[in-house]
Amino acid sequence: MQGSSAISTGTATHSPIVSTLNELRGRQRLNFVGSHIISVDQFDRSAADRIFEVADKMQPYAMRQRITQVLQGAILSNMFFEPSTRTRVSFGSAFNLLGGEVRETSEAKTSSFAKGESLYDTARVLSGYSDVIVMRHPEPGSVAKFAEASRVPVINGGDGPNEHPSQALLDLYTMRTEIAAHGQSLDGLSIALIGDLRFGRAVHSLCKLLCLYDNIRLHSISPAELVLPQEIIDLLKTAGHDVIEYTDMADGIRGVDILYVTRTQEERFPSQQEADRYRGLFRLNQAIYTQNCEPNTVIMHPLPRDSRAQAQELDDDLNQNPNLAIFRQTDNGMLIRMALFALILDVVDEVDNHAKPVTWFTAKRHR
Ligand code: NCD
Repeated sequence: MQGSSAISTGTATHSPIVSTLNELRGRQRLNFVGSHIISVDQFDRSAADRIFEVADKMQPYAMRQRITQVLQGAILSNMFFEPSTRTRVSFGSAFNLLGGEVRETSEAKTSSFAKGESLYDTARVLSGYSDVIVMRHPEPGSVAKFAEASRVPVINGGDGPNEHPSQALLDLYTMRTEIAAHGQSLDGLSIALIGDLRFGRAVHSLCKLLCLYDNIRLHSISPAELVLPQEIIDLLKTAGHDVIEYTDMADGIRGVDILYVTRTQEERFPSQQEADRYRGLFRLNQAIYTQNCEPNTVIMHPLPRDSRAQAQELDDDLNQNPNLAIFRQTDNGMLIRMALFALILDVVDEVDNHAKPVTWFTAKRHR
């Protein structure tokens, strides 16, 4: 394949990204108990607030100030059929922190998918072994399909380039916390999205969640071939947000509150060669930040950042910058995932009743 137009349009443009603003604004309030969490379309603003409120409550447990056994005896099946470090481990650890047990399946080739088993059969089987399932899979829509056959709640840990709801929730929670320190709220926020906005599911889910808020200004900074899907731009505009496209990073990062940097999603390209054309096109480092950003502009990234010499979208020389929020983001992921489990399994009000002090040495976790 040659040229930028040769990038497969397959999954990204035919994925179930499309939703209406009415769906997004969520007329019916989500009852978390026993629900699958498949798409951010399920949340209205009060549902997001409820998750954030429960996430705050999880802080002492995530910080190892207390332990709780509220989910003692419960089993999570953590099924990751695409590479993952933080999503898989933090979902598992979040379940452990609530006292539950985790079973892992992480390779399609060592599971029965390799023998031709359908999503339906796998869902029927695994839901007999667990109380809740988290699943990541390369096919858009696969987790929804799996959930239809499951007898227990299923959480989407990422379905191809489509959605990544727990990432969007933790990103929004992080934005809210970071900008609260500047006396701002999510309404009226300005955000620069940088990198592969076409295939990045974290960006897709985040944009859809941002439609629940008012007066957002989005600078989308990407190569022309990797712009946000039109359905997402339409949703943002219907929500009354401003979307301004840039191809030059320095222009696009000026005057925004938050920079949200992303990795080239090389696994979604038809060939490595094709992906390599976009690697390293946008590199944020301290010098560029100092030259173009306000001193308190927040820097975020869903991670992993590509630290190879040819990429470096977020340079290591930003590591000491106090506005680099990437590890506060990952810490917050634990809180959000604990909150989702507690809400879905209906133990929010029981968590503290099963608490005990920690008896071992606990290192200080700097934020
Ligand atoms: C993201 C993903 O898998 O979509 N990572 C994550 O879950 N934190 C982003 C990425 O892989 O670039």
